[in-house]
Amino acid sequence: MEMESATPIPTDKEFQLFQELIQEKLGIFLPTQKKALLSNRLWKRLQACQVKGFSDYYRFILSPQGKGELNTALELITTNETYFFREQKHFDYLQEIILPKYRPGSNFRVWSAASSTGEEPYSIAMVLKDRCQCDWELLCSDVNRSVVEQAKIGIYPEMRVKNIPHDYLRRYCRKGVGPQQGNVRVVAELRESVQFFTLNLHETFPDIGKFDLIFLRNVLIYFENDNKAKILERIADKLKPGGILFVGHSESLHGISSRFIPLKPAIYQLSGR
Ligand SMILES: C[S@@+](CC[C@H](N)C(=O)[O-])C[C@H]1O[C@@H](n2cnc3c(N)ncnc32)[C@H](O)[C@@H]1O
Repeated sequence: MEMESATPIPTDKEFQLFQELIQEKLGIFLPTQKKALLSNRLWKRLQACQVKGFSDYYRFILSPQGKGELNTALELITTNETYFFREQKHFDYLQEIILPKYRPGSNFRVWSAASSTGEEPYSIAMVLKDRCQCDWELLCSDVNRSVVEQAKIGIYPEMRVKNIPHDYLRRYCRKGVGPQQGNVRVVAELRESVQFFTLNLHETFPDIGKFDLIFLRNVLIYFENDNKAKILERIADKLKPGGILFVGHSESLHGISSRFIPLKPAIYQLSGR
């Protein structure tokens, strides 16, 4: 029998199965209003796996044969929207307030903890290359393996680099030619100065040391308060004394974590408790 081509909507029960699975694996809470999103993002996979409906797909991804597919499904659920120099005020704060405190001979460690396709880490790297007088390290992670791979490659369509300041674009990016016409690539020197890896914020963090500054932007919105609090506890443990945390401008730690002191909107400092 041929499959319907119209995107089917999962039943309430099917939606609940995926909701629980996504919450368990990623910590992300998918509210009921996101039924259509679940369907739009997964429907092509149901077809590719030749299963008839969401219940069958659910059983498949949890079966031993569906192990790789589970990862694919989870990656399709994450929202990876990002752009260069998003929320410029954070980059101004980094340049004007944080970096002048670090003198030659010190070591400045930064972690971009939901780095998506690389626009955020490369924006940070450009500022550090240009302005940081001391040794620096930039670690970048995301739960989604495929965005981490894209970030490592560092190729972007020209229209996506319009927020990069002109001088940085000239110094740190190269225009593609031939098959890469219309694209821009971040220079190797910058790509090689960034360490990319996969990390799930919903799980115990590996031993990656402590940081002076952590970017945790536009990711907390996907979690419910109890999971947000657990992530923030782990993040606080990864900051050096007096370390700074940037969150997205629509995100607030108010009533969720007492480990941070607000300095400015979306800018926090580890409290000294
Ligand atoms: C909207 S993007 C934000 C990217 C960037 N921080 C910014 O502000 O432009 C959210 C990112 O969080 C990642 N993410 C979602 N759940 C995660 C989790 N449990 N652990 C780590 N990263 C996660 C997604 O894969 C996605 O790339």
